[in-house]
Amino acid sequence: MAAYEDAGIRGLGASAAKGRPPDSIPSTERPMRAIFPAALLVGLTGTLFLSACEREGQQNDGPAQATLAAAPTLERRPFGTTADGQQVELFTVTNATGMKVSFTNYGGVITAIEVPDRRGTVEDVTLGFDSLQGYLGEHPYFGSLIGRYGNRIARGRFTLDGKEYRLAVNNGPNALHGGRRGFNRVIWSAEPFQNDSSAGAVLTYTSADGEEGYPGTLRTSVTYTLTNDNSLSFTYRATTDKPTPVNLTQHAYFNLAGDGEGDILAHRLQLNASRFTPVDSTLIPTGELASVKNTPFDFTQPVSIGARINQPDQQLKFGGGYDHTWVLARQGEGLVPAARLHEPESGRVMEILTTEPGIQFYSGNFLDGSITGRAGHVYQHRYGLALETQHFPDSPNKPAFPSTILRPGEEYRSQTVYRFSVEGAAPR
Ligand code: BGC
Repeated sequence: MAAYEDAGIRGLGASAAKGRPPDSIPSTERPMRAIFPAALLVGLTGTLFLSACEREGQQNDGPAQATLAAAPTLERRPFGTTADGQQVELFTVTNATGMKVSFTNYGGVITAIEVPDRRGTVEDVTLGFDSLQGYLGEHPYFGSLIGRYGNRIARGRFTLDGKEYRLAVNNGPNALHGGRRGFNRVIWSAEPFQNDSSAGAVLTYTSADGEEGYPGTLRTSVTYTLTNDNSLSFTYRATTDKPTPVNLTQHAYFNLAGDGEGDILAHRLQLNASRFTPVDSTLIPTGELASVKNTPFDFTQPVSIGARINQPDQQLKFGGGYDHTWVLARQGEGLVPAARLHEPESGRVMEILTTEPGIQFYSGNFLDGSITGRAGHVYQHRYGLALETQHFPDSPNKPAFPSTILRPGEEYRSQTVYRFSVEGAAPR
């Protein structure tokens, strides 16, 4: 805890520090090749999941192998000013293979993830805007850091220790993604760091008692780290002075064919989950953890997202496509494989590992061509998808779900890793 109190005090004025990120979980600094075998040991399901991934195709880390020695670099530059005059910065981290990740301290928004395809062509695989102006306007959480509570809380209400709390209702009858001014719309203090194998920044924000209706002063830190093996990791921590729900996540939208390159229906997805959380018509979980077997929700083997998305299934109807949480197979705590996304034409692959119990797969159903983003790209129906690692929606009202309540004296800790690679040889 002292670590991010320090980080909060140093704030934006600090220049990139050499060495370990102030609040890093040491394992994040290990190369992913070390984390991956560790994750493999977590359980049989994880092992089966990854062997299925391997069957799907051979992975190839391309140029990463040859250049692991060079240290990642970090640049920071002004990224504009908010309506109330606050200066915002943009950070760009480039690793030894040329992979680049850009993010801003406004809302912790990831503004770009640039990775090569199997021909070596580097493209941004996230949806977003060219400038801060776009992120200040209305948009469906492009690249955003979500808090205090990822996804929905029914009718914006919950009762904790006998007291009812009311949150801002900002999505039909429900509260979504932290409220009207969630963590995606606040300015974070950012402390960049660089060392021999990774670079990134520690973002810190203190959410006041009562902000958006949530109890307790929540001191939050999120560390974004890019390593030389094309892994981008997010380490979340928080403490509170009153009991409160916490469920932090990242809401980047992906299109592995490249931003603006059509819809995501040909992407092949595999999820390490044999159950999901069915929802009602307002997308609040019913409380059931249903089997995916013989349903369009079965991604235990790699399947094209478009293969079953239009089937006459009530759950697909409620979501307008996929917009559900999958219950990750895990035994105990620690990082487990959660998802593997593969775009066959480019060969790009993104694997997600997490310490969380669930992953929300949202197939971009509400994108409808009304938003023009980066480079004039018009975001049509399902031009991007989100894979949000998290606890289950509406957990504060579902005592049987894993608890999201953080109490004074405890520390909220969560970690998620996105690992990028390519599959298949470059065409001659
Ligand atoms: C939700 C969707 C929502 C999207 C953008 C996802 O996490 O599940 O229902 O439309 O975020 O807000």
